Amino acid sequence: MPEAILDTPSSTPASSSSSVIGKPTPRIDGPLKTTGTAQYAVDYHFPGLVYAWPVASTIGSGKVLAIDSAQAEKMPGVLLVLHHGNIASLYHTGPGSYSGRAGESRPLFADDVVRYYGQYVAAVVAETLEQAQAAAAAVRVSYQAEKPNVSMDLSDPQTADLPLHTESKRGDVVAGFASAPVQVDQTYVTPTVTHNPMEMHGTVAVWDGSRFTLYESSQGVVNHLNVMAEMLGVPRENIQVISRFMGSGFGGKLFPWPHSLMASVASRQLMRPVKVYVPRDLMFTAVGHRPETQQRMRIGAQQDGTLVSVHQDYRNSTSLGDDFHENCGEATPLLYSTPNLLVTSAMVRRNIGAPTPMRGPGAVPGLFALESAMDELAVKLDMDPVALRIKNDTLIDESNGKPFSSRHYKECLQLGAEKFGWSRRTPAVGSMKQDGLTLGWGVAGASWGAFRGGAQALVSLHDDGSARASCATQDVGTGTYTIFAQVINDKTGLPLNRIQVVLGDSSLIPGPTSGGSVVTATITPAIADGADKAMRAMLDLAVSTPGSQFQGKPASSLAFTGGMVHIKTQPASSGQPFQQLLRLANVDAVHGAGQSDALYALPQARKVSTHSFGVHFAEVTWDPGIAQVRVRRMVSVLDAGRILNPKAGANQIMGAAMMGIGMALFEQTIYQPNNAHPINNNFADYIVATNADSPRIEVHFLDYPDYAMGEYGARGIGEIGLAGVAPAIANAVYHATGVRVRKLPVRVEDLLTA
Ligand code: MOS
Repeated sequence: MPEAILDTPSSTPASSSSSVIGKPTPRIDGPLKTTGTAQYAVDYHFPGLVYAWPVASTIGSGKVLAIDSAQAEKMPGVLLVLHHGNIASLYHTGPGSYSGRAGESRPLFADDVVRYYGQYVAAVVAETLEQAQAAAAAVRVSYQAEKPNVSMDLSDPQTADLPLHTESKRGDVVAGFASAPVQVDQTYVTPTVTHNPMEMHGTVAVWDGSRFTLYESSQGVVNHLNVMAEMLGVPRENIQVISRFMGSGFGGKLFPWPHSLMASVASRQLMRPVKVYVPRDLMFTAVGHRPETQQRMRIGAQQDGTLVSVHQDYRNSTSLGDDFHENCGEATPLLYSTPNLLVTSAMVRRNIGAPTPMRGPGAVPGLFALESAMDELAVKLDMDPVALRIKNDTLIDESNGKPFSSRHYKECLQLGAEKFGWSRRTPAVGSMKQDGLTLGWGVAGASWGAFRGGAQALVSLHDDGSARASCATQDVGTGTYTIFAQVINDKTGLPLNRIQVVLGDSSLIPGPTSGGSVVTATITPAIADGADKAMRAMLDLAVSTPGSQFQGKPASSLAFTGGMVHIKTQPASSGQPFQQLLRLANVDAVHGAGQSDALYALPQARKVSTHSFGVHFAEVTWDPGIAQVRVRRMVSVLDAGRILNPKAGANQIMGAAMMGIGMALFEQTIYQPNNAHPINNNFADYIVATNADSPRIEVHFLDYPDYAMGEYGARGIGEIGLAGVAPAIANAVYHATGVRVRKLPVRVEDLLTA
């Protein structure tokens, strides 16, 4: 796999030679994973642990009439059959200071109403997993079934039961569009797609009579704690949530789902540790998905390509009980300059489980519509699609009038075109041939908001010569442990093998949810502040400890370099290792409680608009003889602030490119109309892109620091990689075949007319 290429501008500060900031740094948690030492949620085991297995609804809409558990209760090892008739009360979350968000707002087994196929209607707890599964199969549930609504047509006014909402508005799109000599008016559809992280959801709940310890696969241990405290009705201090390692989440693990309540309630009732994991088929029902979207795009332009108006009207499906808004207008108001713009949205209810964010929520399906429409416009204008985008570039966020803190979209387009060899593209459909195949070359742009929340991080320097950083954030698998260690290394000069990072435990100093690509920008200033404070404490200790060679000197005359405390004007080697001073003072460790503010609290940041940008170029091959499309080559250029770890960053972008190939060509959750069953709820029928589908992926980072985000200048990099991939591929498919696919995924059937 190729390494990422850092196209480092001269403005990037060179880190000191020993600092690993900006250098490709292997994950510090890698060896724990490759040796099988890292414990994931359902790896935890305790004496007396028992297993819960759900009974899931086999209707998509209606009522539970009766649950007959008599036979199941007599089966070997069975301890409990839980359902709405016998569950102790659970609560809804309410508005309040620490109120969090549950994936599905309805508490487990709240009533006898079935709102989607796969909704849990009962759970069996037994001594072994096999006993629980066997008994769950023996629970007889009778239903009064109604016909569910899983219609994939979201345009029916009868079903648009939630009102139209204006997301962004400027000028007059009706007059603007009418006046435009060149118009595109098309509707784009993205299907329901399901998160399929390698590690499935699961919970091990341990109730000890007064406290819960919950082992989870969670993108937000603090939010998980807040929600579970409210829903279980216990004080916050009586719950601890642990999520040390994760096999990813992609947004599906941002909020707690009903299985976590299932394990907790069973543990409390039985006074035994309870393990539940969500099998792959139920990953398609009660743990979220990206909802279907239907987006009408109307774009008007002058003959020279100048945009006159952009009008996006979209709808997304949501569940019966949860208002989930897929924010498809995330990038539309700011990616291009246009005087007239309107983005409106609505939600449409369906008999499916609650949707939830999935990598680049909103922006990813939204950019499929916008960047497909831009390609259609380029074709109508007979203009190069890269040139069309450059023509409409802007350095002002026209949705709010603020300048972008750092935007190099044009450079992404130019560099990508150069690296891809775009100048050799011939625009006519099907005009590029090689080795008996037709080539299609497509391009699409990307944007994702850059955010930074308030944060805390605890940093300490210990008498064994190590540093330790801790925070109740978590590493989804993307490199957060390593970023912590890199910042500590940068500040203290200590090598990575003397830095310990502790995350994924709600009892630590509070930390951010791993969502929205916010963690790196949010946490780095707090870690830096914590490290600065710990080093200052070390210097204070050095001048106040009897017997220290620095006793009585002003602390301001000292420095901390590479683990040595020394006189500022003298070389570090003339000083003393900090651990010796700690031992002399009989102090175990000095601490720095790092803190940083949210972006909105910083006056300079309020004057700018902070976003990341990117461009993807895709080459597909089309073999009309066997109607086969393959993605053969991709070049991605990202403008995501300073890249602190190009190795982990490139890994994110390559993974996202693969996810984008799945989105473009394979992925779609299909609900059977009569009972709302997601019939392709397995890896044989729900196709994700695999290594065999992997093209050559070349990743370039522009690496311009964005100091509006903080001293490290980093924005996030998890989600921008997926934004724009699917339209780049669909645009390439058009270039090869002449078929414009406006409904994902691109299917062979769509291309047979080519
Ligand atoms: Mo991301 S969808 O915010 O985990």
